[in-house]
Amino acid sequence: KKVVLSGIRSTGNLHLGNYYGALSKFVRMQDDYDCRFFIADLHALTTNPDPKMLHESVKDILAEYIAAGLDPEKNILYVQSDVPEISEMYLLLNMHVGIGELMRTASFKDKARKALGITSDSDEIEKEIIGNQTNQRVNAGLLTYPTLMAVDILIHHADYVPVGKDQEQHLELTRRFARRFNSFYKVDYFGEPVNFNFGGEALKVPGLDGSGKMGKSEGNCIYLIDDEKTLRKKVMRAVTDEGPKEPNSVVSKPVENLFLLLDLVSGKEVADHYRQAYADCSIRYGDMKKQLAEDMLKVTLPIRERILDIRNNDEYLSKVVRNGAERARAYAADTLRDVREIMGIRKI
Ligand code: TYM
Repeated sequence: KKVVLSGIRSTGNLHLGNYYGALSKFVRMQDDYDCRFFIADLHALTTNPDPKMLHESVKDILAEYIAAGLDPEKNILYVQSDVPEISEMYLLLNMHVGIGELMRTASFKDKARKALGITSDSDEIEKEIIGNQTNQRVNAGLLTYPTLMAVDILIHHADYVPVGKDQEQHLELTRRFARRFNSFYKVDYFGEPVNFNFGGEALKVPGLDGSGKMGKSEGNCIYLIDDEKTLRKKVMRAVTDEGPKEPNSVVSKPVENLFLLLDLVSGKEVADHYRQAYADCSIRYGDMKKQLAEDMLKVTLPIRERILDIRNNDEYLSKVVRNGAERARAYAADTLRDVREIMGIRKI
């Protein structure tokens, strides 16, 4: 069986971007592949979360994994930090990763820009980072984030890594590091993992604020745990515009986002109905939003119920991760042993 590996950072509750971009794909893959899914708590540390919140979030996400339909019997579910082999291999792989390529990674630039309060696209980031000696907001962990992610994947020799579009650059780096390792040591050891989308495109789920993607730090999210009232309120408040002025007008960004959400949640047919209504100027945004909220609730409410049920069952959750860690460690230890051997870290 092909090996599937993916993870989600423990930085808060899961939203519909995580669900459609990643988690729902995990659920659909679990019967056909050798699946291993984890909670990336070490990656979450790169943005220095409150320790108590981080701990809670790991539990929440585990409960959300299971509530969304991941079966701990069919998959290996584990917490990244429970597998210390990952941290050791991260140190080893870093010896083959360039600082320059890490600094050019889009996610690093975004986060660094935010941390430093830089709004322009220019090269200011590099100057700011090197120039300011006391600035710890852009930490080394954030820079080497892609190394750690590559190790998560390569330590399992994964074939498929189901992720959203925003993670594809990291996947590209993973393949590059794998090729580099093979060619430096003249081995044919790591394969080249790819995203998995059931033949479709990688997803970028838009947010409700009319810009960019749905994201925890953007405050434009529908969470799986949102209750009915909260969810309806958020959708009804989603940004739109004044409506089409004349037939067949170009759709503006905030409205286009709502159409895209309808595509995902309500299906193409329903979305096309509203696209048509937009084209002939009969659209009523209020009706469209009601439909969207209704269809979102059909997806999220059953999951919410199960989350509430599972998340306080500490005994069950800790049994799941203990078992997952044991199984994940067995694979990780094999790879780490090989990597140490290949790199020349051997017993005297
Ligand atoms: P994270 O925690 O930011 O997001 C988890 C998953 O959700 C997807 N996602 C989205 N997909 C579509 N539209 C959106 N608006 C949206 N927002 C989030 C992400 O693409 C991702 O699949 N670096 C990873 C975690 C990670 C990982 C790994 C993933 C660490 N090691 C190894 C795969 C393999 C991350 O930050 O995801």
